[in-house]
Amino acid sequence: MWARAARILRRVALLVPLLLTALALLLLPRPPPFSTSARLPSPPSTQPLVRDETHAQNSITENEIIFNEEGDEFSKRPWFISGGEQRPKRHEPHAKIFPEDSPGDDRIVEQLMYTLPKDEDVPIKKILLANGLGTWGVSGGRTEFIRNKCPVDRCTLTADSREAATADAILYKDHHTPFNVKRPINQIWILYYLECPYHTASLRPTSLDVFNWTATYRRDSDIVAPYERWVYHDALNTEKDLERNYAANKTKKVAWFVSNCHARNRRLQYARQLSKFIPVDIYGACGSHHCPRADPNCLEMLDKEYKFYLAFENSNCRDYVTEKFFVNGLQHDVVPIVMGARPPEYAAVAPHNSYIHVEEFAGPEELAAYLQRLDEDDTLYNSYFKWKGTGEFINTYFFCRVCAMVHANGRRQRSAHYTDVQAWWRDGACTRTEWRATRDQQSLRDPP
Ligand SMILES: *[C@@H]1O[C@H](CO)[C@@H](O)[C@H](O)[C@H]1NC(C)=O
Ligand SMILES: *[C@@H]1O[C@H](CO)[C@@H](O)[C@H](O)[C@H]1NC(C)=O
Repeated sequence: MWARAARILRRVALLVPLLLTALALLLLPRPPPFSTSARLPSPPSTQPLVRDETHAQNSITENEIIFNEEGDEFSKRPWFISGGEQRPKRHEPHAKIFPEDSPGDDRIVEQLMYTLPKDEDVPIKKILLANGLGTWGVSGGRTEFIRNKCPVDRCTLTADSREAATADAILYKDHHTPFNVKRPINQIWILYYLECPYHTASLRPTSLDVFNWTATYRRDSDIVAPYERWVYHDALNTEKDLERNYAANKTKKVAWFVSNCHARNRRLQYARQLSKFIPVDIYGACGSHHCPRADPNCLEMLDKEYKFYLAFENSNCRDYVTEKFFVNGLQHDVVPIVMGARPPEYAAVAPHNSYIHVEEFAGPEELAAYLQRLDEDDTLYNSYFKWKGTGEFINTYFFCRVCAMVHANGRRQRSAHYTDVQAWWRDGACTRTEWRATRDQQSLRDPP
């Protein structure tokens, strides 16, 4: 009787956030379908609101199935997965959360599962947001940490510059204007970038060696802040049998929504070459097809009419993979064709067998030939959708992780800072050509 009541309670508790999300989706203005240039610099913490409704609905059905069975498989998942309840139980002194602990890894899951030793009177860490609270969409004080149930929540946020002399960490977004106070010896300075090096301003020379940590989409940042983060529900289970034919009823080949026609990686030229060998419908300023930005049917066409979508980033930069791929591509029933980061960098962040990288082919003609083959072979085409339903895109709780890292730093063996943060950010990071034409990451240093 009690077990049953507890189950019902949990079921209700699980549905509440879903209903709230649905409500938020109704109230919020929809994100523009053409994200090429219209993307707002939204901080990572607002990610879940961008989810589409189908996503939330899927979770409800999956929850229902699980609740009807005895084994409560869902609640055993980590707390940052929908329905998950597993929280870090004890402090792990050797947790791999700093870059030197686990080179090549983004350490996001480890940071989310980090917690402090219990029964300790842990002091609150003060984090100063140099650009104000509004740019981050957060409230001051401890709200952000309590509301999100961060495993490490003993932090407070402030935007008051008078706290500059006493803050434990200062988070700078895109720019660095130092406060006119003496920097305490242990104060951690963090530099956050949302955009790629072409679209971030240079720092002044005196600001190059002052940062301890970076927070960017780059996987070698101290706090990695990706546009989206895919997590499998079970690392050993990366494929599912398909319940439908994703090729059914599709009559069109390649679609592309784009508004910036002068991207540095010459993606438009590539798309035009490709269109000589396979139909490519270019929507927006650079093409002849039109679909009003506000119309949700634009992205729906990807589910129903098109087989492929050009998820081309505007720049070829290291690790630079945005929602053009994660949202427009992966979160629709279409195979994304990608250009932006290197092939192994996509492989590190994408579900297995979920996309096609242009550099897997000698050029547009060879790519078109492969797409024609997929178009004729439904089994092969459908093999690009087997990852669906095996995991989810998570909220990476940026500020939970900042708080955890600031606390963990006291236990770190070494002090750390960037001797030239601009060299780290820019040197060899981007290329105007294909990656395979660059020699061992030594591309030309591009001015912003
Ligand atoms: C394809 O179209 C038919 C007829 O309109 C419809 O019954 C079917 O559900 C569609 N299939 C898919 C996968 O959308
Ligand atoms: C932060 O960087 C400064 C140099 O910019 C350095 O003196 C200091 O030791 C670093 N602090 C930590 C906690 O690593």
